[in-house]
Amino acid sequence: MSFKHFEYKGVTFADGVYTKESLAYAENEFKVLDDDVYNLTYPKSGSNWMIQILNLIKHKGDLEKSNTVPIFMRSPWYEAVGCLEEIQKMESPRILSSHLPHHIFAKSFFKSKAKIIYTMRNPKDIIVSLYHYTKILKIFEPAENFQNFIEDFIQGKVLGGSWFDHVKGWMQMKDDSRFFFITYEELIQDIRGSVVRICKFLGLELDEAQIALVVKYSTFKSMSENKMTNWSQIPPEIMDQSKGSFMRKGISGDWKNHFTVAQSEYFDKVYQEKMKDINIKFFWEQ
Ligand code: A3P
Repeated sequence: MSFKHFEYKGVTFADGVYTKESLAYAENEFKVLDDDVYNLTYPKSGSNWMIQILNLIKHKGDLEKSNTVPIFMRSPWYEAVGCLEEIQKMESPRILSSHLPHHIFAKSFFKSKAKIIYTMRNPKDIIVSLYHYTKILKIFEPAENFQNFIEDFIQGKVLGGSWFDHVKGWMQMKDDSRFFFITYEELIQDIRGSVVRICKFLGLELDEAQIALVVKYSTFKSMSENKMTNWSQIPPEIMDQSKGSFMRKGISGDWKNHFTVAQSEYFDKVYQEKMKDINIKFFWEQ
């Protein structure tokens, strides 16, 4: 594994970004509010894209109002070290982020009326995105070998732990009215329709012009050019963007440029085996 890490309840976490204490607090003590909205993802699934969409929806497409702080501070990861102080200052309704798996998520959520939006992505594209991320995020030793990285991902020895367990865990909530799931691929294919569905889930009504603004300011191009959303303000000692950009490609299917046929077939076999008990055909499988 190419980063300093520790285990908490069977999941791998990056040292420093999280501590056992921050996770225990997030799980057992953190108070979820009834009007909170949680942007839940496995890393590299489109977390920041969803932060932008949700904040724009909250401000009815007004970029200035949703853009007051850089995106990595706008909807903090509530389980990460050092985020609580900011969260306590936030006005309701709060939009918060989390990478936690279902079995570690805030206990108080399950007694609340708060809502979760869970964004998933084709795991092959996550592997590629995460692989490149290891080259720019300073907590990592750059992964040298793509084959080993695929293996680490399969075994959950990467940032975020096991993708398979993450998805299977959260999908237990798929029929809960507080839970909405969507895929990165659906966002790519139909961003306007996705925004409309998200608004409906949140019980918010935006008019056509407001929806158009949400769409306009959440495109890959717009977010890449916007210094409040492109991560350019993250200090170089945390992320070295001379080696690659956080806003890397923003497409679905880039795995085809990285996986050999043999690696793809091998991953598909592992996927079938690990996901066999889940009765959902995900968008990327169609
Ligand atoms: P790539 O590395 O494949 O380009 P996260 O926010 O969960 O860390 O996910 C990062 C991934 O989402 C990166 O994928 C990034 O480029 C992509 N992304 C961010 N904003 C996007 C947008 N507006 N449209 C499409 N992809 C976006």
